[in-house]
Amino acid sequence: MSYWISQSVDGAPLPKATHAEGLYVYGEDGQCYIDSTGGPGLFSLGHGHPEVTAAVKDQLDRMAYGFSMTFTTDVVEELSEKVVTAAGADHFGGVFYSSSGSEANEHALKAALQYHLANGEPERTRFIGRRLSWHGATLGVLDVGHHPWRRSLYEDQLGRASHVSAPMLYRPPEGVAPEDLARHYADELDAEIGRVGAAHVAAFIFEPIGGGTGGILPPPAGYAQAMRAVCDEHGVLMIADEIFCGVGRSGKWRALEHEDVQPDIMTIAKGLSGGYMPLSACVLSRAVRETIDGAYGNLEAARTYSGHTAACAAGRAVLGIIERDGLVEKVARDGIYLKERLDRTLGQDDAVGDIRGCGLMWGIELVKDRDTKEPFEPALQVWKRYRDAALENGMLSYQGGAIIDGERGDYALLTPAYTATRDELDEIVDKVALSIRRSVESARAAA
Ligand SMILES: Cc1ncc(COP(=O)(O)O)c(C=O)c1O
Repeated sequence: MSYWISQSVDGAPLPKATHAEGLYVYGEDGQCYIDSTGGPGLFSLGHGHPEVTAAVKDQLDRMAYGFSMTFTTDVVEELSEKVVTAAGADHFGGVFYSSSGSEANEHALKAALQYHLANGEPERTRFIGRRLSWHGATLGVLDVGHHPWRRSLYEDQLGRASHVSAPMLYRPPEGVAPEDLARHYADELDAEIGRVGAAHVAAFIFEPIGGGTGGILPPPAGYAQAMRAVCDEHGVLMIADEIFCGVGRSGKWRALEHEDVQPDIMTIAKGLSGGYMPLSACVLSRAVRETIDGAYGNLEAARTYSGHTAACAAGRAVLGIIERDGLVEKVARDGIYLKERLDRTLGQDDAVGDIRGCGLMWGIELVKDRDTKEPFEPALQVWKRYRDAALENGMLSYQGGAIIDGERGDYALLTPAYTATRDELDEIVDKVALSIRRSVESARAAA
């Protein structure tokens, strides 16, 4: 028995990895796996990038960690400059670091509360999130997120936050024309703010492009602008959780740039340090920062590991490489290529209902019947069959089985490193197609 409490979804033994390079992870059995998702959408530069490992080693030799309550360092100052410049220095004005996406989102919620306190509106304490969203595992963000089975054990501790629908282009609300979708979802948010009481709502938190929980959910055109207008009308802050979709993954540095929308607070993580060190950031607009500073002098957010120096060295190196090598633009171009390749390879498969996404974040929804969009029965666990088939085909994958209503809806996710070559993208598409066909075949045989 292993004493390590891993996160193997069904308790099945995991293959043991020994080393990794670029998009490839090597197992002790001699097997080589291509990583189609960069772990959980994490690796922006792939494994073993020599410049990043050198930057981290160098920082460890100089000073691993500097306590952020006692002094600053070049590393943390330069990283903050890079983050704010890339996000938009005309709007953003402060960065607070922590070590995970969950913590960054906790700080985003607390920053929103502190902002309203500073503004003399202490009664604004309620948050509105979206269904089928994931903002992290700690209790505060578990509540604003909406991942039915991850919440299920803790429901008693949750319930202060409420939720509106996540946009679904493949399964839109009945009777709403595509051109009316953005208005429809904005009206829903407006109604929810009215139900809670506008004077009580602190912030709306959402993933600008839904990540793992919904199998990638791009919004309808005009969505972010319409949601921004509703927030503004009611004095509600907008928190953009860009932990999954940010730092270039969508083909823009910030996913909300696609609609030229600026949030009041934004969180980023995964691509920021690309898996080399744990690092996340809560980025405040100038207005939010100045309001908080004006009343309190600082954000109330003490943490031991905030701005961990070696982690920031990884972030500084990763952002430097993304900028120098034009990787955000490369991701945008590769997204067009990948979509075309996926459509050509899988577009006619009768179990492939939808292929959606942008940049290097794509979701493939698997269905029993393409015409009716009927999903597979959950008991068939098509998503697990996909994972097993992928491993057999030498590919690491990410998938899930509950994107429609928390119970049904199998999908496969594709989020390769920004550095993937066209050959590697081709290899991934071929292995995804083979793994989908094998898993569907075996599910149909078992039905
Ligand atoms: C959109 C989003 N927010 C927050 C989180 C939580 O991040 P972490 O697992 O680092 O706490 C994740 C993780 O997958 C995520 O995808």
